[in-house]
Amino acid sequence: MKIVFATNNGHKLTEIKEILGGDFEIVSLKDIGCDVDIPETADTLEGNARIKSRYIYDNYGLNCFADDTGLEVEALNGEPGVHSARYDETTDHDSEANMAKLLRKLAGNPNRKACFRTVVSLIIDGTEHQFEGRVDGSIAMEKSGSEGFGYDPVFVPEGYDKSFAELGEEIKNRISHRARAVKQLAAFLNQ
Ligand code: IMP
Repeated sequence: MKIVFATNNGHKLTEIKEILGGDFEIVSLKDIGCDVDIPETADTLEGNARIKSRYIYDNYGLNCFADDTGLEVEALNGEPGVHSARYDETTDHDSEANMAKLLRKLAGNPNRKACFRTVVSLIIDGTEHQFEGRVDGSIAMEKSGSEGFGYDPVFVPEGYDKSFAELGEEIKNRISHRARAVKQLAAFLNQ
């Protein structure tokens, strides 16, 4: 079965192919000749994942899935959430600036609780199915570690005393929000 994954992120493609196994042919946006930067205009992860999967299904008629992820911090009422990629509005997709803003906003606040949440929207023959993966944890006082990307240096998953950026890819891929969402997608597709 051929399915489009609405991304051009090579890292995500590899991760998903590993979890899904060989029964599915996963193709990227580039593979189907789509070079549109699909606008993510919803105010929820669920809405943005759906916008992307619907765009592909409606324009290309292909079964597909899309994901959207956010870091949700309890003391900041769920911020940065859907705005995680561009939390610092003076820069564009700048992880260092995003983390600096987050640490600044949490300065002096003892409530460091946070979670990463990934929503996957799958469209098969026009019908949408959603899957969610979540990892709970806390925001560290300062950055540590050099692996991973995004907010990894400041996120400490529950049950560990190191950040995702210190724990490294193998552990992260076992417990991460994205891995958990994709495992549910895989279980559904393999039914
Ligand atoms: P996306 O929906 O996967 O593009 O994620 C949106 C934003 O959330 C990214 O630009 C990152 O800032 C952040 N993010 C998503 N996944 C992770 C992760 O696994 N670690 C750290 N930050 C992440």
